[in-house]
Amino acid sequence: MINKINVAIDGPAGAGKSTVAKMVADQLSLLYIDTGAMYRTLAYAALENNVNVNDGDALKHLLDQLTIKLVNENSGTKVLLNDRDVSNEIRTAEVNKHVPVVASHEAVRLEMVERQRMLASEGNAILDGRDIGTHVLPDAEVKIFLNASVDVRAQRRHEEQVKKGLPSNLDELKKEIAKRDKLDSTREVAPLCKAVGATEVDTTSFTIPEVVDTIINLVKKPVS
Ligand code: CDP
Ligand code: CDP
Repeated sequence: MINKINVAIDGPAGAGKSTVAKMVADQLSLLYIDTGAMYRTLAYAALENNVNVNDGDALKHLLDQLTIKLVNENSGTKVLLNDRDVSNEIRTAEVNKHVPVVASHEAVRLEMVERQRMLASEGNAILDGRDIGTHVLPDAEVKIFLNASVDVRAQRRHEEQVKKGLPSNLDELKKEIAKRDKLDSTREVAPLCKAVGATEVDTTSFTIPEVVDTIINLVKKPVS
């Protein structure tokens, strides 16, 4: 790959964004940036410090005191909050519930987008989130909107929890995912939507390697 390339992957919860983005990054030697982990870390820090998640200014003030580092490892992204490993803590039901509210504030998003652009400027990068193709990197060479039915997405998350030996309730998961999707898609600032020029990939009946291949073919196309 000769030219600088950015890949933007957006879509709802459980569509497979982080799994396939990490695999595409590994195969094409791209820097992988999990932007959802950044919003999750702020939500976690807000809960830990009793900061009101409805108060955008207070959240921005908190964010200004936080360093959030994403360290890519074979098993996934390790997340460091002021150098403390919070990789597991940011994936709890409590964080799932509050993160869309935290992410709805303009002051928070402006700062996050700036940090994400700075990270992406370090090289060829693949970012996944909700507003990558629409706001963070609107000029990304490749934009993908990954989707799947809510039933399949909830089932995937359920299996993931069971595999980790964690308690899981499929109906609760389905409700949580549907609620989060609605909040993310209807917020005023940078709502989740398919970016202009994005290719929609429905992963409902695709395996992970099939989705990875589809994306790699889309990435190779514009630069071949
Ligand atoms: O992995 P999952 O799809 O469940 O979520 P995530 O990518 O970790 O993102 C968690 C939450 O952060 C989302 O539900 C959004 O509320 C927010 N988010 C966002 O607003 N913009 C982004 N670029 C990424 C995440
Ligand atoms: O990042 P996002 O919330 O979009 O989804 P993910 O965390 O990458 O994927 C959720 C779960 O679905 C993971 O356990 C993946 O292994 C699984 N998955 C799948 O079974 N089939 C796919 N085509 C994509 C993901």
